[in-house]
Amino acid sequence: MDLKPISYEDLPALTEIARESLIYDKITASIVREKIFEEPYYRPDFALKALHDGHIVSFMVGHVDDEKTAWIKVFATHPQFRRQGYAKALLKELEERFRSDGAKKIRTMDCVPNYLSAGIDPRYTEAVVLFERSGYTKVDDRVDMLCPLDQDLSTEQEEDRLARMGLTVRRITETDRDSLFDMVAKHWPGWRYECENGIKNNPPSVHIALDGDRVVAFAVYDGNNKGIGWFGPMGTDPEYRGRKIGEVLLKRCLADIRSLGHTEAIIPWVGPISFYLNTVNAHVYRVFWVFEKNL
Ligand SMILES: CC(C)(COP(=O)(O)OP(=O)(O)OC[C@H]1O[C@@H](n2cnc3c(N)ncnc32)[C@H](O)[C@@H]1OP(=O)(O)O)[C@@H](O)C(=O)NCCC(=O)NCCS
Repeated sequence: MDLKPISYEDLPALTEIARESLIYDKITASIVREKIFEEPYYRPDFALKALHDGHIVSFMVGHVDDEKTAWIKVFATHPQFRRQGYAKALLKELEERFRSDGAKKIRTMDCVPNYLSAGIDPRYTEAVVLFERSGYTKVDDRVDMLCPLDQDLSTEQEEDRLARMGLTVRRITETDRDSLFDMVAKHWPGWRYECENGIKNNPPSVHIALDGDRVVAFAVYDGNNKGIGWFGPMGTDPEYRGRKIGEVLLKRCLADIRSLGHTEAIIPWVGPISFYLNTVNAHVYRVFWVFEKNL
């Protein structure tokens, strides 16, 4: 079988295969590019395509992180070329390459920070069978929630209340960067990437609460899977919890997502289900299974 590294020129073909295959996901060309080439651990030898008569019919992308955990992040086979061994061959090849790189175990999809989804949606039943038959065990499940945006997302009154407590709420500016990253490094180091992506957006897609000039809470959207109404992460310094700061920041982000033309926001890999149900009437709408195997 002809397996080769993916190159930038392959993006249109990969996007088409992903669109036809990943029917439960919102696939755009920029998301395919983000998942492959904007992965912090991207390596060309871990992003492979399978060819038939010179045309791409299947692809699989993964990486190995600093702790030597390997990941399969995204994969699909063109519907007309299914059940001909392409995905199996790509998986076997990547497993061998990961092993040679020193990886000790391999997991499916929940690769922080740049993940497409937090595991395999079991409605992709062929993918579940592929991993089960390849010796993987289900080790975790996770959920995404969906939030309707046709609701009152105003926060003025709550912001006045917070102001009376000495707290300011606003969109992040360049001068807040260091303070945000200090807090994130202390409590949630894995979230820095999404915060950085949010700050790079125009306007920055990060809302913060400040005590003086110290950031004490943040919420991000479009920090990952950009352009499809993707919320998160969010965090409030433990000392400042219980004052509904998170609710205000969440609503500010959701109002922005609505103003970008979305009718629903995705709240991925949750987390505090009751918080999102109670504050913005979000409901669980997808379940993901995480598979793992020792290499
Ligand atoms: C999952 C997927 C990539 C498999 O691609 P494929 O190239 O058809 O897979 P293979 O031909 O290499 O099959 C590998 C194994 O998977 C299992 N499998 C795949 N399709 C199957 C089917 N229709 N029925 C039963 N088992 C199936 C089998 O165990 C198979 O091995 P076997 O043929 O030796 O029994 C493909 O079905 C697909 O693109 N699905 C939609 C996208 C998706 O689910 N992506 C994963 C989420 S990111």
